[in-house]
Amino acid sequence: MKGVVLAGGLGKRLEPLTHITNKHLLPVYDRPMIYYPIQTLVEAGMSRILLVTGGANAGDFLRLLGNGQAFGLKHLDYTYQRGEGGIADALRLAEHFASGEPIVVMLGDNIVEQGIKPFLERFAAQGSGAKILLKAVEDPGRFGVAELEGDRIVGIEEKPARPKSPYVVTGIYLYDARVFDIIRTLQPSARGELEITDVNNAYIRDGQMTFDILDGWWTDAGLPETLYRATTLVRERALRHKGASAEPAGAGAGFTPPLLPR
Ligand code: G1P
Repeated sequence: MKGVVLAGGLGKRLEPLTHITNKHLLPVYDRPMIYYPIQTLVEAGMSRILLVTGGANAGDFLRLLGNGQAFGLKHLDYTYQRGEGGIADALRLAEHFASGEPIVVMLGDNIVEQGIKPFLERFAAQGSGAKILLKAVEDPGRFGVAELEGDRIVGIEEKPARPKSPYVVTGIYLYDARVFDIIRTLQPSARGELEITDVNNAYIRDGQMTFDILDGWWTDAGLPETLYRATTLVRERALRHKGASAEPAGAGAGFTPPLLPR
């Protein structure tokens, strides 16, 4: 299995913070946002990771991350998304990288408290199809919302006015190689994007989608409020790990993995 981090887009919901930089380079507590999804994938065992980025500041990712040495990687792959075609459009660019292998995709603005390795193992045992990770939240209408019937997922609605459940689709997706064929069949949504929800609904229609519920906290960081929330959650976790010391975790020390509990 290979990992893909999606870090394109214009970050319009964070203007003016994103006026001169990419959203995923903004700080979340003591490091840039993009560190968190990369670290999550590395700790889940991924040694091959592709970063999809875009916009005017794509070169900054190379300067920041290089070959991924800070994460213990030997190499990091990069590709460039032109324009703002949506999550599924960005994922399309990973086909060559995946070269027939299953992939775990993580949105660059999603941060999780705990490791995701058990879900990758369950997906590997599944053999084919797709798996998504769900989380119950208080404001589901901001996300893709799952409709559940017992232990089956029967559909996903993107940002519904009347959510059918509190369970939202987090930005962590596991796919077999068929995902790229599905993307080729998509039409742009009302917001002019190729929607990842349409990809997931295609797997659901084919009876090829499973789900798990994510443990621990999960947050996106793509709005002023959730960027602040992410910083707060990450800070609390860092302080807990330091034995509740009040000293700032990053003070002069640079990057010190591991970031997540093992
Ligand atoms: C995207 C997806 C949505 C998902 C969310 C998770 O939303 O479209 O289904 O629940 O990421 O962060 P967006 O960030 O594009 O609003």
